[in-house]
Amino acid sequence: MRKILIAIDGPAGSGKSTTAKLVAEKLGYVYVDTGAMYRAITLRVLNSNIDPSNRDEVEKAAENSSVVLNDGTGNFRVMLDGKDVTEEIRSEDVTKNVSLISSYPGVRRIMVNKQREIGEGKGCVLDGRDIGTVVFPDADLKIFLVADVMERARRRQEELSTSGKELPLVQVVRELKERDRKDSTREMSPLRKADDAIEIDTTNLTIAKQVETVLNYAHEILAVSETHPHVGKSEIRHQVETTKGSLGERK
Ligand code: DC
Repeated sequence: MRKILIAIDGPAGSGKSTTAKLVAEKLGYVYVDTGAMYRAITLRVLNSNIDPSNRDEVEKAAENSSVVLNDGTGNFRVMLDGKDVTEEIRSEDVTKNVSLISSYPGVRRIMVNKQREIGEGKGCVLDGRDIGTVVFPDADLKIFLVADVMERARRRQEELSTSGKELPLVQVVRELKERDRKDSTREMSPLRKADDAIEIDTTNLTIAKQVETVLNYAHEILAVSETHPHVGKSEIRHQVETTKGSLGERK
């Protein structure tokens, strides 16, 4: 069976990681949380007392760091220089600084190369901001998730609460909007929907429905590429978008 590469982009709190992880699990594919990679570099910068606004020092730190997205036994864990930092990279401090760190071209070049190395030629689901536009512009399936900012903030607030941090909703909304602004206005690879990405609004969707919708598109792509092996990826993406994954639904 052919394996495909799925790119899932969108702003913070749109449901990317949850959806991508479950879709990868269902398909038996590798899951790559590219945001976690930028977060790991940010943690490294903060732990080394490097000034996050010192671009040269930050880029040097990125070059000298090892970021691996599994613990060596196939489980998804974020390893920074051999240490498990999966939980630590979700801290407020990292979240506040990650947009600046990830805007540096040197940092992006290193991360994008790593992401291509991991994803190339495998069954893989990657989530991020620039996967469908820059990292894998010829991904078999491109999804762009969006959701109302209040709903995204509510999700983020809930996530923080489960790790013992209670923040007022207005503050979460403010910080989310600020991160959206920085991520979508930076010069290199800003957050943007690829022209040929399928947009899914998750505001009123359950996680199960989000996953099912993406899986339907994936199954349709797999079915079409099996029956039409000589049709190009962009043509298949276009065909699947126009049928809204209905072929996959019937499977
Ligand atoms: O998905 P996340 O919220 O964990 O991502 C953290 C930050 O990393 C996000 O605010 C912007 C940056 N990022 C990026 O620039 N490019 C990606 N492909 C993924 C994340």
